[in-house]
Amino acid sequence: MREVRASAPGKVNLTLRVGPPNPDGYHPLVTVFEALSLRETVTVRTTKTPGVRVETTAYLPDGRVDEATTAAMADLDPGSHLAVRAARILQRLAAAGPWASTAAGVSIRVDKRVPVAGGMAGGSADAAAALVACNQLWDLGLGADQLQAIGRSLGADVPACLVGGIALGTGRGDRMRVLADGEAGDTSAHHWVMLLAHEGLSTPEVFREFDRVDAACAPGLVEPTPGETRALRSGPEELSPRLVNDLQAPALRLRPELARTMEAARRAGALAVTLSGSGPTVAALARDAEHAHDLARALEAEDTVARAMCASGPAHGAVVEETEVS
Ligand code: C5P
Repeated sequence: MREVRASAPGKVNLTLRVGPPNPDGYHPLVTVFEALSLRETVTVRTTKTPGVRVETTAYLPDGRVDEATTAAMADLDPGSHLAVRAARILQRLAAAGPWASTAAGVSIRVDKRVPVAGGMAGGSADAAAALVACNQLWDLGLGADQLQAIGRSLGADVPACLVGGIALGTGRGDRMRVLADGEAGDTSAHHWVMLLAHEGLSTPEVFREFDRVDAACAPGLVEPTPGETRALRSGPEELSPRLVNDLQAPALRLRPELARTMEAARRAGALAVTLSGSGPTVAALARDAEHAHDLARALEAEDTVARAMCASGPAHGAVVEETEVS
């Protein structure tokens, strides 16, 4: 029996510029991701019974099990669980290699700490962690570029969860250039309060609303200048005026109550407030860790806020944590 445990980060978009859709319906993006300290853990284990099984447990910030999300994940069709889809792709590759005899069956355990359907790439982080875990489980020896290519086929945010740190995404947001490694000494730490909404928001729906109103007047996409890149890697004061998200206006039209969350965060003293990805999570930038805790305590009381979670970045990308052979 072999067992491998890996983890991968959720993310916030420091910048997210969106162009009008391509003929395939996808939108060209220029976005800068920051990987967050909230991580998904995926443990994969070879089994004698063939097939892929998955069990997901979601946790609240205080470590208790989030029963509602855990039950919702149990009802999910395994074919739409990104960790399962990632494992199936690597299982097919393993079946042709020296580990063929152990590739028949795999069980996957997902421990979720990134909110579901929040615009923080929780599902993509599941896929990224499953990819690095299965790569090790079956000794596939896939390099970073190959994992990126497979990740891209699973979802536009998967490559960002693989690389971590602060990274520029172009194309569909899935062609990565690392701007700063996670937890690197030369990059300032950013402390955030992630303000969860009571209800998730569908990413395609937000993009459709962008197409309906915003696409026609979207400015041309340009990559950040070296000066802008430096500011994004600097401390919170320099970062705060640079936060921008073209999906914020369409998301707020679909969920007007998010404007109340954003306004409350500004009033409470956040340095800057932005939507995380396609939302509905609102990210409030704090001065430091203590300020983030104070903001979280104050904002949890807002009726538009389901939960306030502290997170910091940039965190490292997907990584194997432990391997066991017995
Ligand atoms: O790639 P992923 O499956 O995560 O994307 C979810 C949805 O978000 C897509 O089906 C598409 O509607 C939208 N999307 C987009 N342009 C992108 C990324 C995502 O329109 N660059």
